[in-house]
Amino acid sequence: MKIDGTHYRSLWWNHDRDVLEIIDQRWLPHDFRVIPVETMQDFADAIFEMRVRGAPLIGATAAYGMALAMAEDPSDANMDAAWSYLEKTRPTAINLRWALDRCRAALRPVAEGDRAAAALALAHDIADEDVEINRRIGENGLALIREIAAKKPAGEPVRLLTHCNAGWLATVDWGTATSPMYHAHDAGIPLHVWVDETRPRNQGALTSWELGKHGVPHTYITDNAGGHLMQHGMVDMVITGTDRTTRQGDVCNKIGTYLKALAAHDNGVPFYVALPSPTIDWTVTDGVAEIPIEERNAREVTHVQGVLDAGDIGAVQVTPERTPGGNPAFDVTPNRLVTGLITERGVCDASEEGLASLFPEFARA
Ligand code: MRU
Repeated sequence: MKIDGTHYRSLWWNHDRDVLEIIDQRWLPHDFRVIPVETMQDFADAIFEMRVRGAPLIGATAAYGMALAMAEDPSDANMDAAWSYLEKTRPTAINLRWALDRCRAALRPVAEGDRAAAALALAHDIADEDVEINRRIGENGLALIREIAAKKPAGEPVRLLTHCNAGWLATVDWGTATSPMYHAHDAGIPLHVWVDETRPRNQGALTSWELGKHGVPHTYITDNAGGHLMQHGMVDMVITGTDRTTRQGDVCNKIGTYLKALAAHDNGVPFYVALPSPTIDWTVTDGVAEIPIEERNAREVTHVQGVLDAGDIGAVQVTPERTPGGNPAFDVTPNRLVTGLITERGVCDASEEGLASLFPEFARA
């Protein structure tokens, strides 16, 4: 997407220096810093420390990590070591394992001498495919927003609510949940987006930064405000992203998504999830029982982090000294609370039958 007239992806290959470059998202929205990712340790740190974040972007980054591993040592043993090293950086977003599995399966039959080039070409493909998937999700979501707009008096905005950052920063481009928003805005449909702050990492600030750069009207709200807004008829539709969706359509996403889905259900507000197919875990059925939930450092909760006046990232403690913090980073919204899944192949029910209708190649026999 464009920032002040220049088109950016969230990661790109620097052909002059032969290196991957990323936007270090820890500094946003205050500072736009681009950094190279040059070693396997850099790749693991970038994912674990959330310099890159968002399920699809984590997957694309891991594919470039595999390309680096193959350039350093293209043996089977190193391929397996790189898979394990990168896979353990973040446990919930399935795109990480999806990308690593895809790389390993494609590279295994390739002669060792050709693996470095093949791995880099595959990483580029995975990045490009992500852009196209998200563009299509945008088109499919646009149709839903159009339907809502058609029922409103001319000029009245469609009021959307989103949680976390499922924007272009969380993917390679377009975003998942934001892609329908960008498409609708570009089509001239008036919008207003309620953006949940998304404690503890405040990914809502990233969403606000993105929407602001694209000229989409929005308001940054506390995580607890959504239910109140829905009760008062101020939300027409919720759209979130997902880190892993099961074959029966249970949606794992950033902590707090479940509460938004409950509030939407109670108030008759449609709750949609933008779902790229690499985020479907076909091996898992019951999301609450089966998806591992990342537990992050308690300091993210006991302290509020931001960029200080001096220009450094800093944190201020908001709890008593000895109070322990708990920090589950994701939760699961059962499929019964999800109105529909917006995929690159169309919109379907959040159910095994719904997903199988769009992805018959994965249907159970
Ligand atoms: O912890 P994060 O910032 O990686 O979590 C991101 C989310 O939960 C997003 O909503 C999800 O990855 C979908 S991104 C298109």
